[in-house]
Amino acid sequence: MPGLIPENILDDILSRIDIVELISSYIPLKRTGRNFKACCPFHHEKTPSFIVSPDRQIYNCFGCGESGNAFKFLMRYEQMDFPEAVEVLARKAGVILPQKVAEDNKTQGIITQIYRINELTAEFYTFNFESKEGVKAKDYLLGRGISPETIKALKLGFALDKWDSLINHLRAKGFNLALLEKAGLIVSRDGGGYYDRFRNRIVFPIFDVKGRVLGFGCRVLDNSLPKYINSPETLVYTKGRNLYGLNLAKEAIRDNDFVVVVEGYMDFLLPFQEGLKPIVASQGTALTSEQVRFLKRYTNNVIMVYDSDIAGELATLRSLDIFIEEEVNVRIVSLPKGFDPDSFVRKQGIGEFRKEIENALDLFDYKLKVLKSRYDIKDTTNKAKVCGLMLETINKLKNAILKAEYLKKLSLQLGVKEEALLDEAKRVKPARFGQGHKESDKKKPLSISPTEKLLMSLMLEENSLINRIRESLSPQDFVDERICRIVSVMFNLVEQGKEVKPQTLMNHLEDEVSSLICEPEFLPEGLSLEHKERMADDCLKRIKNEGRRVKRERLHEEIKAAQYAGDEKRLNSLMEEFHLLIKKG
Ligand code: CTP
Ligand code: MN
Repeated sequence: MPGLIPENILDDILSRIDIVELISSYIPLKRTGRNFKACCPFHHEKTPSFIVSPDRQIYNCFGCGESGNAFKFLMRYEQMDFPEAVEVLARKAGVILPQKVAEDNKTQGIITQIYRINELTAEFYTFNFESKEGVKAKDYLLGRGISPETIKALKLGFALDKWDSLINHLRAKGFNLALLEKAGLIVSRDGGGYYDRFRNRIVFPIFDVKGRVLGFGCRVLDNSLPKYINSPETLVYTKGRNLYGLNLAKEAIRDNDFVVVVEGYMDFLLPFQEGLKPIVASQGTALTSEQVRFLKRYTNNVIMVYDSDIAGELATLRSLDIFIEEEVNVRIVSLPKGFDPDSFVRKQGIGEFRKEIENALDLFDYKLKVLKSRYDIKDTTNKAKVCGLMLETINKLKNAILKAEYLKKLSLQLGVKEEALLDEAKRVKPARFGQGHKESDKKKPLSISPTEKLLMSLMLEENSLINRIRESLSPQDFVDERICRIVSVMFNLVEQGKEVKPQTLMNHLEDEVSSLICEPEFLPEGLSLEHKERMADDCLKRIKNEGRRVKRERLHEEIKAAQYAGDEKRLNSLMEEFHLLIKKG
């Protein structure tokens, strides 16, 4: 690979990078005369023998002999290969790599084609919908109160009950199979050949803000499972990056200065049809920060209307932090038990739905309500627990006035003195460095890594994979703590020679954790064992790499903290750990 990048380009990059600046962004450097020094990050030492020379733009350790330029440093420290290091530094230096340009152009070409294919596919599905075979789909939607105008506005369609109708249609238009597979529309058969991914389903094209078709969500016509099959991630479609309906709702959101967020496609349709225009659907999962940032372009006021079941409540609670993070006002509607927005509007009418929206609880009241329904706060320990959980949220508020306001409110509602809350608030706050750091920062990604979730689903579906994975990963290798918990229970069950089924697994798990198993999963149907094994191996590799990266970053932070604190003992043991990690590669 190195040979592919012309020498003069490498020189160009190096000439625009300052190695002192680069290395000091990783480890603190101290000036000594013309040079800079530090304790060597590549071996264990107490007195610094790692020297960085700004004149020669190299580093050198007199202790272990490790030396090199900026590329080499990144390769060693970040464990990148050469092309990766070049890419990172090229970006930093603002140098464009020649083959990158070619690659980008090629990808761009494929992206354009996928959009075109999606467009034609959506047209094909709406055509089917209007055909004789589509009558059952039309009847189904009309039966649920969806009008022909709504169907048209959202370009709802129907995928025929055939294995190859889309393949044939698009092939006749000159698209090759590899491209259709890249668009996520067809699936390769083990014995060779392909089949249509979506069959005998109502089709919801998923649009972006500009109205381009990104992919499809497809619902069965009866109660069979899985209820929805969705496009996989493609070059143009990433889950959690778009909001269903935003292309039609954006003006109304701006005009009304609020947006109602519901979960499902069907939950979007009826309220929208009945005149509630500022509405979007998150498509099942908890809102991601990207989605919230998207909405922020149109309004700062979000009203969440999620199912009032446990999973819905948890999804809502989890997404609340994102709103604080993004400084977006959020209010929450809990519909009466058993209702979702679609069934509520059908039964009670849009007027009642609007009333629910007007009476939405703010974040504080909602969280307190959910917590109070779960913990009996007459018990003192429970009350302290609820206090702690509320303070976590209040502490995240960036606005000091709001914060004070909420503390007062909390004190009133729980009958706890405000001074006590203030004391506690200081304690709950995560420490910047050192103690508390590990606990608070360790395992709290905002959204679960799709890789971890995929691997979990694979193991759940194919028990033989569990042993395979157990050989190379431990539960702690999963960054998300809920998945970590699920995996560890899986491993235990397997160790006891038991079968691992979702329902048995749930008996061993807390509600919050087991809801993850119930969340819609995105495994395509009909995968062969071999295919699943390959997928699992890929996940395994990615998780391992990610784990190493996270660990390195964490250690790195802690080393810095120990250095600032002048804690020799801790520094030594951390360096030891770091050294080991690097050696393991
Ligand atoms: N979802 C999914 N895959 C599933 C189940 C759900 O992608 N197997 C997503 C869909 O975007 C769906 C949303 O989660 O719209 C909400 O799920 P649910 O409430 O079960 O579906 P509804 O859209 O409300 O469908 P319906 O009312 O027809 O049951
Ligand atoms: Mn529903």
